Amino acid sequence: MFHTLLYCLFGLLVVVLLMLTGLSYRLRKFLLKKESESESESSTINIESAAERCKREAREERLSWIQGTVYAAILVIVVSIIFFFWMIVKDTPYEAHLMEWLNIVVRLMHITFGIAWIGASFYFVWLENALNRTENVRDELAGNLWAVHGGGFYYLEKYKVAPKEIPKHLHWFKYEAYFTWLSGFTLLCIVYYFNAKSFLIDKHVLDVAPLTAVGIGIASFIVAWIIYDLLCKSPLINKGIWFAIIGYIILGAFAFFYSKVFSSRAAYIHFGAMIGTLMAANVFFVIIPAQKAMVNAAKKGVPPDATLGKKALQRSIHNNYFTLPVLFVMISNHFPSTFGNKHAWLVLAVISLGLAGLKHWLNLREQGRLSTWVMPVSALILLGVAYMTAPQPHVASKEKVTFAEVYPIIQQRCTFCHSTHPANKDLSAPPNGVVYETPEDIVKLKDKIMQRVVVTKTMPQNNQTNMTDEERELICAWIEQGASIK
Ligand code: HEC
Repeated sequence: MFHTLLYCLFGLLVVVLLMLTGLSYRLRKFLLKKESESESESSTINIESAAERCKREAREERLSWIQGTVYAAILVIVVSIIFFFWMIVKDTPYEAHLMEWLNIVVRLMHITFGIAWIGASFYFVWLENALNRTENVRDELAGNLWAVHGGGFYYLEKYKVAPKEIPKHLHWFKYEAYFTWLSGFTLLCIVYYFNAKSFLIDKHVLDVAPLTAVGIGIASFIVAWIIYDLLCKSPLINKGIWFAIIGYIILGAFAFFYSKVFSSRAAYIHFGAMIGTLMAANVFFVIIPAQKAMVNAAKKGVPPDATLGKKALQRSIHNNYFTLPVLFVMISNHFPSTFGNKHAWLVLAVISLGLAGLKHWLNLREQGRLSTWVMPVSALILLGVAYMTAPQPHVASKEKVTFAEVYPIIQQRCTFCHSTHPANKDLSAPPNGVVYETPEDIVKLKDKIMQRVVVTKTMPQNNQTNMTDEERELICAWIEQGASIK
């Protein structure tokens, strides 16, 4: 009965979704048609009166508002469909499969939006740095630039403040940022929050209830934004280097805090998500509102408030320095020598410093300001972390360890996840396809076992199967003695 109801709801929602999608296409066509109509009108009459312009803009705003609402409704329905689907497959083997596919889809979206956002950000910073500001530059311009790309020539001009008349088609760069954040937050929920017990919490770090842990994660983003925003509004913002130093110390404190409440991987991801939140919030709360105010001022013909532009630029510069550290965090889960280190938070803080330094060097270089020390110092910092994370020399016991001693340990501590059909219900397949069912499986992967079980101690994951240090020692000795299965 309950399931029939769910299926009916599911079907109904799919129909509504199709109808809404159709409606959104119609609205879009309508909007485009209206625009081309008013364009041809204005080309014959040439100048539309202020009243007409006002009316047209109000109409366009209303229509795009309706369009936005339809898009929002589509999103809500898609989420509800997934939710009902989840209700149907809950507690069946398909649940983990559904989660895996959600993971694939949302992760792809996150990467794609992220590339678009960071790509545009890199491009505009480069543009700003590479502008020709001296030769053949009209008075109202800050500079211009010729470029060739994809078989075509482009010519761009940057205005000192704003053009005399704001063009009708003004392209904004904002949805890349918003969608990167939204998809990133969704991914955080799919991977860490829905499976908080397995992935977010490591009871050897802090034994908290899943909901508490999720609450701490989300609250930390809000607190980070409040602190950062206050800092940006304080007089400190005008003291360049001190702002950077204090900001960096606060970021380091967050890295430390996360390492004391979450599992090591979750701590890294939260650090990245926190900075990503600052970046997206900079776009949403400061940069875009400043740009809107400037456009409105230009439309009214009053001089735009230059401090708004300056503040937006400051936030934009901060975002620029955040990019490389955030990108590192996003791939860090592949590198157990970083998040698996004893002082994982320090490794993270130092890598972030080195990467921000590298970005600084790139910025200087684009402006043609060649600095001799920024690049070598950043490289040294990064080499320093590589050194700091190197495995400690380790002497395992010399006593002979046989496979008969090691095999049961692996079976007891690893096959819960690493088997063809894992007993761990959060997994639909063995992680990374790694199984330890036969002796050969184990020997084949001995180097990786050494790395994850002995050197970084990042396996068993969050030590969910309670492996002891003596067992790690035994495995280490067995591998060092040649990993024989006889
Ligand atoms: C609670 C589940 C769980 C347990 C128990 C577990 N693992 Fe893992 N293991 C994972 C997950 C999830 C991954 C993939 C993510 C990663 O690489 O950290 C993984 C990855 C690995 C990898 C990396 C594979 C690759 O392709 O790089 C190795 C090696 C590994 N585990 C070894 C072990 C050993 C040895 C044990 C037992 C001592 C063990 N694991 C116990 C969940 C588990």
